[in-house]
Amino acid sequence: MAKFTRPTGTQDILPEDQPYWEYVLACVTSVARKYGFARIDTPVFEATEVFARGVGTGTDIVDKEMYSFKDKGGNDITLRPEFTAGVMRAYIENGMQVLPKPVKLYSTGPVFRYERPQAGRFRQLHQFNAEILGEQSPLADLEIMLIAWDIYARLGFTRLAFQLNTTGCPVCRPGYVEHLRAYYHAHIHQICDDCKLRIEKNPLRVLDCKREQCQPVIAGAPKMIDHVCADCAAHFAELRAYLDDLGKPYTLNHRLVRGLDYYTKTVFEVWAEGIGAQSAICGGGRYDGLIELLGGAPTPGVGFAAGIERAVMLMKAQHIAVPTPPVPPVFIAYLGDAARLHAVRLLVQLHQADIGAQIAMSGSLKAQLRQADKRGARFALILGEDEIAQGTVTLRDMAGGSQETVALAEVASVLKTKLG
Ligand code: HAM
Repeated sequence: MAKFTRPTGTQDILPEDQPYWEYVLACVTSVARKYGFARIDTPVFEATEVFARGVGTGTDIVDKEMYSFKDKGGNDITLRPEFTAGVMRAYIENGMQVLPKPVKLYSTGPVFRYERPQAGRFRQLHQFNAEILGEQSPLADLEIMLIAWDIYARLGFTRLAFQLNTTGCPVCRPGYVEHLRAYYHAHIHQICDDCKLRIEKNPLRVLDCKREQCQPVIAGAPKMIDHVCADCAAHFAELRAYLDDLGKPYTLNHRLVRGLDYYTKTVFEVWAEGIGAQSAICGGGRYDGLIELLGGAPTPGVGFAAGIERAVMLMKAQHIAVPTPPVPPVFIAYLGDAARLHAVRLLVQLHQADIGAQIAMSGSLKAQLRQADKRGARFALILGEDEIAQGTVTLRDMAGGSQETVALAEVASVLKTKLG
């Protein structure tokens, strides 16, 4: 029979990796709460139109990477390729616009993109995601950047720098795009064939091209920052002033355009080394038109998402240690059939007292004690005929090998004292 393997671009997150994941998720939860974010969980799939409209037809995500299908009822469904559009749909549908503003929401979970897999790039990936809705002030942009910073600092990362840009708004961007188009047309023979197509479809994406051939042309391209309207310029200046004042390092990156259509004004990413070609560990920005685009009342928004796989890869590359989850400290061993039943009762008694315990399921007493050792138990409880007759149990300290006899009725409280 053919051997089954996991689908390309997916991962099994094995028990030895779970401590990293638990640690990342615990950090996200505690930092999100510190900033006043409430958790929201939306479905893993949505009507395809939510993403086609939200993320934008013409983006790689929508045109090439979505897992879309018709369900048995003939509905067009897509596995979410990101959180933002679905969270906005939920905000509108659940009448969350009446909540005190700003509304701060965070989520964690899997997202799906049919990308070409390579180191750090998966088809099922996991993100943590945060959004602030209903606030126009650059303070919201700042808070979104600070929360990302805080999470990475808590994870133990050092030497991270933000890449920052402004993408303008519907007032100033069209004029800038025309400038870009004219500039690329003037250099059409120097750019790659893909970029030639992008000039009409989405000239901003040319800024993102990695081909050697296009680099000299991109280096001389007009910059958004030189074409923004007064409102966008003031917004960006205020955000930068906060970052400067706080001493947060960032690089102005005029080529940062992001692969989703909804952005307005601020966009940012965090880049890191040590995770292969995929250097962005987080990305986000402002999207003041998205809620309206999805049928809600005009509501500004800003948010970010970060890949958990990439965070875990980076933690390993930077040798960041994570707490190992505790193993049950007690192992119950026994000698003979009669003792087994008493051992089972003892197991239940310990669990009811909230003491982590495991029981031997087979093997000689010697083998059972070897198992206790392998499982990292601090104490073994041994039940044999003598102990049962006397209503006691032998308590063995696995590290030192010392043993004592304890009355069965008292074993839970004795263990609690020893375990602190
Ligand atoms: P994004 O830049 O598409 O933004 O994804 C955010 C992060 O998800 C990336 O920085 C990266 O760490 C991770 N990521 C993306 N694709 C992959 C992949 N194929 N394999 C592994 N990791 C990946 C968004 O998703 C926006 N929704 C962020 C946002 C929220 N903007 C505003 N609010």
